[in-house]
Formats: sequence, C-alpha cells, structure tokens
Amino acid sequence: MRTRFAFTALAGALALAATASQAQTQAPLKVGFMLPATGTFAALGDMIEKGFKLHVEEQGGKLGGRTLQYFKVDDESDPSKATDNVNKLIKRDQVDVIVGTVHSGVALAMARAAKDSKTLLIVPNAGADAITGPQCAPNIFRSSFSNWQPGYATGVIAAQKGYKRAMTITWNYAAGAETVKGFTEAFEKGGGKVTKDLNLPFPNVEFQALLTEIAAQKPDVVFAFFAGGGAVKFVKDYDAAGLRRTIPLMGSGFLTDGTLEAQGASAQGLITALHYGDNIETPRNNAFRNKFAVTYKANPDVYAMQGYDAAQMLAAGLKAVNGDDKKRDALIAAMKKAQIDSPRGKFTLSAQHNPTQDFYVREVKGNYNVVTGVAVKALADPGRGCKM
Ligand code: PHB
Repeated sequence: MRTRFAFTALAGALALAATASQAQTQAPLKVGFMLPATGTFAALGDMIEKGFKLHVEEQGGKLGGRTLQYFKVDDESDPSKATDNVNKLIKRDQVDVIVGTVHSGVALAMARAAKDSKTLLIVPNAGADAITGPQCAPNIFRSSFSNWQPGYATGVIAAQKGYKRAMTITWNYAAGAETVKGFTEAFEKGGGKVTKDLNLPFPNVEFQALLTEIAAQKPDVVFAFFAGGGAVKFVKDYDAAGLRRTIPLMGSGFLTDGTLEAQGASAQGLITALHYGDNIETPRNNAFRNKFAVTYKANPDVYAMQGYDAAQMLAAGLKAVNGDDKKRDALIAAMKKAQIDSPRGKFTLSAQHNPTQDFYVREVKGNYNVVTGVAVKALADPGRGCKM
C-alpha cells in the first residue's frame, strides 16, 4: 500500500516537472496590443494596457506558465488605417494573440483580419455589436460589452424615472448608433419616446449648434454616448450652456468614466449605467483597486478593468493547455466556459463570446462613479446573426 502510494506520488511529481519544463522551454507567447496611443481615446488605450499587465504581473509575469512578449501598434482610432495596422501585428510580428481595441470601427476591421487569419483576438473595449453577432468566430472574444448592452441598461433606468420624451446625441459611427439603438429599445418599451437623434462626425467636439437645438426642443431627458476626451468636452459644454439643471443628462457610463477629474463640477450628480463602478465593495474589487493604485499611482477605471479581464480570459485558456497555445481547441473551449472572477463581479460568456453581466446604476459624487443600484441583472447581448 505504502509502496504503491509512493510510486503514484513519484509519477505525479515527474508529470508535473515535465509540464513545468515544457512551459519553460516554450518561446514567449507573442501578444500584440492594438490600442489608441493618440487622439480622443488615448487615455483609454493606456488604461487597458495597464490593466492587462497588472494581471500578468500578479501571476508572476506568466500566464499558464508561459512568459509573454509584447508588440504594440497605435491605431489612432482611425478605421481607414485599421487593416494595415492589424496586419503589422499578424503578418510582420506574427503575434499569437491580439488584444484590441477601443474604437468600434477599428475593431470591426480587426475582427475581419482575425477571422481570416484565425489569429486569437480579445477585444478589451470596442462594443461593435457585429463582433459578437454576424462577424463572430471561434477565435474572437470580448472582455467588455456589446454597444447594445449599456445603451439598453440606461434606457431601462430613464424609463423608470418617468421621463417621457428623450433626445439622443452622439458621434456618427457604429458605437454611437448602436448604443442609441439599445437605449431607444428599452426606453420605448418602458413607455418613453425618443423624439430626435442628434449626431456629429467622430471625433468632432463642436457641440454648440446641437446644444442650441436641445435647449429649443426641451425634452424631458438627454441621452448621450461620448467617451474619453470627447466626453470631457461634452459634459463641460452641456453645463456651460446652462442645460444641466434644466434638462437632465444621462448616458452610458463612458460619459463619466476615467473623465471625472477633468470634468470637475460639471459632472456632479450625473446618472449613468455601466458594468462597473468605483465603489463595488467586494474583496475582489478592493484588491484590484489597491494593487492598481500602488502600481500606477492612479485610480483604475472601466477600461483598466476590461484590460485586466482580457488577461484573465487569456489566462483561463492558457492554464487549460499548460501554456501550449497550439492546443487551440482546448484553449478556446476553456476560454468559452470560464467564469471570470472580475472586479466588476463574476461573469460568464454568452455563446457568442460576449460577457453576460450586471449593469449598475451610478451617480457621480466627487471623482467617483458611485453605484446606487442595479439597472439590469445578468444582461446578455442577444448575439443576433452569429453563426459558429
Ligand atoms: C467604441 O467605439 O466601441 C467605444 C469607444 C469608447 C467607449 C465605448 C465604446 O468608451
């Protein structure tokens, strides 16, 4: 009995040692970041990269026993350069996995290239509905949201507040249009009516004429999708035009996330919906926020959290194959079924690889988006049009 135990233990130890040495002899996994380093979304790209690297560092610099080598491309949030840019990572650098990006239009081009080349892609922000809809693929995952989700959640709370007539305002591109569509669906289901959609080209910030139109029409509420530098300017201009106290401004939470220090008084009291908030009082979120603050001397935001979770999703896949990403089917199967212990709360992926997650109601207090309730629990993107 004792001998048999000793033998089994020895065999187990040898197997473990073999796995460990296999991971050691593997070349580093090539990770390509395609993120904005310039333009209105530059700060968002920076936060995503910091979040991703924080998780890797917490794992001792390795995921699934595999070291990582990073490659980087600044996509400038410019869809016209997206195919060339993503091919720098796929063809020139021959990366094993791409992490990117922020802008939906750029991400759509990336998803096409990833699908064609079968390169593993984890989208750490861009919400383009098609990525987990008609353009879905076994090798494409998202750690963030679909544009429909935060729009829908904000529509639910706007209707609950009893507003009847809404105007919407956003940039004229996939993220703006799809977020507004989600908002309209929930708001009108809840008894409201969207009376007018206002648009301007991305990334313009000349809001004056549109604010004048809002002031003239006097809706019960305005719904806005802006993010990054554009969100800072919009919230300040809305306040400066004297609208904040007369016509309530709501938005998907990007309107006030990572932006509050720059928005200052103009953002106080704004109510938004998002899959993250600053004061989620769980040990998981507190640990994440403390570690991030100590490492980077800054508070994390939703983008940092999504980058962190992109690394967690990749880790779940790599752990299942001991770092051997050539065992592609097993890696993908593990990513698909992972339950991610996220700072936002635990989440799983839909069949189309988009997070099914709670959307919180948040109110701006000082420099924080304070969670005051849940808008929709376990909201799943419908994943319309995905076949895989
Ligand atoms: C997008 O283009 O999908 C996008 C950009 C910034 C955000 C959210 C979505 O904060």
